[in-house]
Amino acid sequence: MGSQWGYDRTHIRAKHEGYRSRAAYKLLEIQQKFAIIRPDDNIVDLGAAPGSWLQVERTLTHAKVIGIDLNPIAPLDGVETIEGDLNDPEVQENVRLMLGVINVVVCDAAPKLSGHKSYDQARIIELNEQALKFSCKVLKQGGNFVVKSFQGTDFPELYAMTKERFYSVKTCITRSTRKGSTELYIIAKNFIG
Ligand SMILES: C[S@@+](CC[C@H](N)C(=O)[O-])C[C@H]1O[C@@H](n2cnc3c(N)ncnc32)[C@H](O)[C@@H]1O
Repeated sequence: MGSQWGYDRTHIRAKHEGYRSRAAYKLLEIQQKFAIIRPDDNIVDLGAAPGSWLQVERTLTHAKVIGIDLNPIAPLDGVETIEGDLNDPEVQENVRLMLGVINVVVCDAAPKLSGHKSYDQARIIELNEQALKFSCKVLKQGGNFVVKSFQGTDFPELYAMTKERFYSVKTCITRSTRKGSTELYIIAKNFIG
């Protein structure tokens, strides 16, 4: 699945199966391996457009699902969406009001890349830290957090920060990640609170 052919095949498969993007298979794999979402979990999805993770989440829980993105998210049955920045305190407050208890925060957000490796890596880690901060603000004790990151010089610090807040922290490189990419997910379970 790591080859370019595999990448194209996943894209075609996603279209065929009605997913808005191939990213759906990454969350499905994470769920299969780590069981981060339970059937009664309220979920917040950061950086959710176009919405393939939201489609998957809707099938995994019968509770509430909210997607947040800088870009609009086309309507999805049973999913609330907010167009805004995950750093905006008003967005964070709205999420709390809409959900009450929040069991899971997932973040597949990615900034626009400039092509300058070290600058882009720093921006990604900054966004990851913002997502971690968001999750620590809103998550229920015992809740779970997943965030997309990239291996690089600042990654160990992000990983260490996450370990301070969750009892169990692991990493996962998904099968549908492009060959040669440094992308990986942090899977943090059981929020210390
Ligand atoms: C790779 S896409 C997410 C794909 C999504 N998981 C799916 O399955 O369809 C990354 C998204 O992160 C969003 N994003 C980046 N920075 C953000 C921020 N500060 N607040 C909210 N969304 C952000 C981008 O607008 C983009 O739509």
